[in-house]
This record gives sequence, C-alpha cells and structure tokens, in this order.
Amino acid sequence: MALKIGIVGMRGIGNTHAAAHSKDSLANIVAVCDVVKSRADEGAAKYGVKAYYDLTEMLRNEELDIVDVTTGGIENGSWHFEPAMEAMDAGKHVLVEKPLSNDINEARQMVAKATKKKLYLGCNLNHYFTPPADRARKYIADGEIGEFVYCLHKMGFSGGEPENYQAPKSPKTKGWQYWHLKAFLSHPFSVMRNFCGDITHVQAFVDRPGYRRRVDDAMLSIAGISVRFANGAVGYLLSQRGDAPFGLGGWWSVEVAGTRGTFCIENCVEKITYWSSKAPDKPVVEKSGLTDFGETFPMRLHAFLEDVTNGVHPELLRASGRDALAALEYTWAVIESYEQGGAMVRPHPLPPLHGDPATWID
Ligand SMILES: NC(=O)c1ccc[n+]([C@@H]2O[C@H](COP(=O)([O-])OP(=O)(O)OC[C@H]3O[C@@H](n4cnc5c(N)ncnc54)[C@H](O)[C@@H]3O)[C@@H](O)[C@H]2O)c1
Repeated sequence: MALKIGIVGMRGIGNTHAAAHSKDSLANIVAVCDVVKSRADEGAAKYGVKAYYDLTEMLRNEELDIVDVTTGGIENGSWHFEPAMEAMDAGKHVLVEKPLSNDINEARQMVAKATKKKLYLGCNLNHYFTPPADRARKYIADGEIGEFVYCLHKMGFSGGEPENYQAPKSPKTKGWQYWHLKAFLSHPFSVMRNFCGDITHVQAFVDRPGYRRRVDDAMLSIAGISVRFANGAVGYLLSQRGDAPFGLGGWWSVEVAGTRGTFCIENCVEKITYWSSKAPDKPVVEKSGLTDFGETFPMRLHAFLEDVTNGVHPELLRASGRDALAALEYTWAVIESYEQGGAMVRPHPLPPLHGDPATWID
C-alpha cells in the first residue's frame, strides 16, 4: 500500500518533491504544509490534498507514514531541525532535504533521535541515485576497480565574474561566510563516500575571488579539499560557486581509480566511462540517455519509499541521516581546517553503525 506523505515547505524544492511523489506508485501525498498560506494553498489545490500552515496541526489531524521536510532557512538548512524533530517525536519517518542542518550539533541530535525512536531518517542526497552511479557501484562490487587509489571530484556551479556584481541581500545568505560550504558540500562528500568509504583526514584551502571581496560578499566560494579515505586511497574535491567556467567534465565529474580499473562519471546523470587496467586504451562508454539533473529527485525519492515499504534494516537505509551526517562532519572539518590556516583535521567520529549502547532502548 502506498505510504501516506505530508510535505513541509512548499516552495521550489517542496514542489519538486510533490511532483515526484505524485507520479510514484509507492507514495500517496495526503497533506502539504507551509507557514506561508498561499504556498500551502497552491500546493494543496494542485495535488487535491489538505493545506496546513502549521506542522503540529498537520500531525494532529493526519495519519502520516512519512514527513518530507523541504524547508530551507539560513544557509539553506536552519529550518530542517525543528520540523524533523517534531515529526520524529510524533513517530513519523522523515525524509529531509540536504544539508541535515546548518548546525552540526542539531544534525547529530537528529540522527540520535532517529536511532532512539527506531525511525527511518533519510536525506535527499540525490546525486548518487543515477544510472551511471549504479553502474559504478557494479564495477566496484564486481572487483573491476580493485584496491582504491584515488578519487577526484569536481562539483559546483559553472560561471564567471559578472559585470556590476552585487552582494546577495537575502537574509538566508547575507553575511554567512560558510553558507556555500554548509549548503552544498553534502552532495560531493556523500558521492565520494558512497563510492570510496569513510574519510579520515581533511585539509582545505578556502577563499573567495576579488569581485566578491570588493562588494563585501562574505561567502567563501572556492574550496580545494584534500582527503584521505579509511581504505588508504587519497582524494581531492574542488568546489566553487560560479566564479569560473568549469573545464573538462562540466559542473559535475567524479573519477575513481583503482588497481584494476578507473571510472569517470560526467554531468551526474549522463555518462560513465570505464578504463580497465588490462586494456586502458579501450575505454567503455555508457550513456544513460538522461541529461537533466532534475531526474535525480524522483529516483532518490523512490529509493527512500522502497526502503521504507520494504522495512529494510535501518543500517541499510540508502542515503540515511547518518550518511548525511558523515558529509556534514567532513564539511565541519573543512571549516576547521580553513580556520586553522589549512591544518590537517580528523573529522568528528560518526555514531556507531551497529547500534549505540548509550542510546539503545529495548
Ligand atoms: N537536493 C537538491 O538537489 C537540492 C537542490 C536545491 C535545494 N535543496 C534544498 O532544498 C531545501 C528547500 O529549498 P528551497 O529553495 O525550496 O527553499 P525555500 O526557502 O525557497 O522554501 C522553503 C519553504 O519552506 C517554508 N517553511 C520554512 N519553515 C517552515 C516550517 N517550519 N513549517 C512549514 N513551512 C516552512 C517556507 O515558507 C518556504 O516556502 C533547502 O534545504 C535546500 O538546501 C536541495
């Protein structure tokens, strides 16, 4: 039977989620909620469901299986914690947009709450729910990558210096120097971790170009990040928020290399190339037929619905809250490294995967 879903936050991304759920046989949107009445009303009319302007009311009146949190807030993440915690306190599974929160302590509490309440907490880490990523995981599982050697990831926004550039005025971003890092790095870090495993060391160089400095745009937009994985491989992540046009691979490319082969995914959804160490001059190219990044939303949301429907063990939930927390811990290590002038930082450890005796309740 389809899962009953209430969506909180009915602006851009909330509507993207609603459109995906409305076409998914595992989903049944029963209510939408936004503190801005017109946004809730519009969404409710479009999907033929009830509008709420307050989550507490929605939880009181509706029988929901899942609360889908698509709010934004300062640094695009400050309004995730409260609705997600309230929904879990009401016994609902939660899917939350990335980043889990713009506050690492809140993110840790969200993951702990899901564990304590034995609920699914998923995060919309949509970038690795694609046909090329599926193919990449098969190369890895089949031993065709071998021992990991390196991971190179370039992800951000292609652009260049705009004429008459003005600093952003939105309260969501104005004056928040880390907002690009906090709002965005969850994506590339989660992709790197999905393929290569946990990151144990981080060293970052972070800055902003002159045209941003001149107008007191506080946002640090350029990040060059060196990492070491637990398996001994090394990695590099380059992210920038539209300060320069990207070169080869476009806005999104990841290359993962191993002793038996290397793959490179371009444009997230579009294409994967594989080079075998046995025939490095004969790359195998597979195109998905997709070019639109927007396709990642229905694919990722469907995976969450499948996992909840199947009642998978929480450790097996794809793109879980813990996975999203890992990406945030790496982001906080980037910030710490920057604040220490490029020092090497060990990310804060994650909560135990196989249950935490400190919070376990039988
Ligand atoms: N996964 C992706 O690829 C991707 C892409 C873009 C944005 N995002 C994320 O999606 C989220 C939403 O982005 P957006 O651009 O739609 O944000 P937005 O700020 O434009 O819209 C959020 C909506 O939530 C409502 N809201 C906030 N707090 C609420 C509450 N407590 N109860 C009810 N309604 C509330 C606001 O009124 C607003 O209408 C952000 O966290 C952003 O980081 C994800």
